[in-house]
Amino acid sequence: MTTEPGHSRALVDRATEAIGAALRAGASVDAVASGARELAALAEHATPDDAVAHAGYHGLLYELHERHDPATYAVRRFLCQPAYEVEEARILRARAHDPSFDVPEATSAALRERLVAAQERRSGLRHPMSAHLFEGRPSHRDVLVYLEHHWFRSRGFHRELTELSLSLPPAEACRVVANLHEELGEGRPGRAHPELLQRLLRHMGVPCEHEHRPAWPEAWAYLNNRVRCARSREPAWALAVVFSLEHGTPATHGSIHALLQRMGMPEPLLEFHRIHMLGDAAHAEAFMQQIERLVVTRHARHVLLCSLDHHRALGLRYFDRIWREIQRQEAP
Ligand SMILES: [Fe+2]
Repeated sequence: MTTEPGHSRALVDRATEAIGAALRAGASVDAVASGARELAALAEHATPDDAVAHAGYHGLLYELHERHDPATYAVRRFLCQPAYEVEEARILRARAHDPSFDVPEATSAALRERLVAAQERRSGLRHPMSAHLFEGRPSHRDVLVYLEHHWFRSRGFHRELTELSLSLPPAEACRVVANLHEELGEGRPGRAHPELLQRLLRHMGVPCEHEHRPAWPEAWAYLNNRVRCARSREPAWALAVVFSLEHGTPATHGSIHALLQRMGMPEPLLEFHRIHMLGDAAHAEAFMQQIERLVVTRHARHVLLCSLDHHRALGLRYFDRIWREIQRQEAP
């Protein structure tokens, strides 16, 4: 839906004001409902071809996701829900008549084959930025730009697993929680994966505090989508995303590990990447088995493939933006 920039700006202003009012201490039920309504109205216009609405919507949603304030968690979650529904409907509508998102036969082999093919077709390793970083001669600065965004993509994974576990029955939730337990260092202080990554990033001078925010709508849109999927009542949304993340990690992290070794980084600081290049193939397989057990209707299979496609499209758009930044820095 394309709109005049002035109209989109007004929608952003209204949603910003309504969400601010909804999050004020002692806000009325009407104020909270109005915040949710205004955000959903903005979501209707928040596509990349309406840059004002897209940036305004994803900026607001990102703040609702990232704010670490238990007192407002329930209100923030409520504020997002109608907007998530607008997004879900749009993502499915865009692919409704495309046979490549339909798996009529109910065999797990067919689904497995389609999922892996869709993932590999849009792998981040095929992006020109990956060729530059992993096969070319990147400058030290290029690597720092890339790693700054690696932090944004990695630091919230444990929260996404937590949200996914909430929508699953106990026998399935326990498998997600086992992954979460590993992600958080298996109870050993200082060994949570974000902490291992921070050790490397601090050594290299890359900003890596939890309060640090990406500045680009492409980053917000990608990260917001991961949270939306993790919270969906239909687990196929999230299972596609976590499968994609885990399936892609061994090769990506292996490439980053080799790059950091070539740069002479001390081996103990490479632990984050070493763990993921070795362990995540098993995580991907565990999620694939969950998909085979939980994604059993034709509609759920359609959601699964649409979710994977949308997640990878956003991932590649985010890579385009990082790549532009690397190229901008390299220009004389
Ligand atoms: Fe991890």
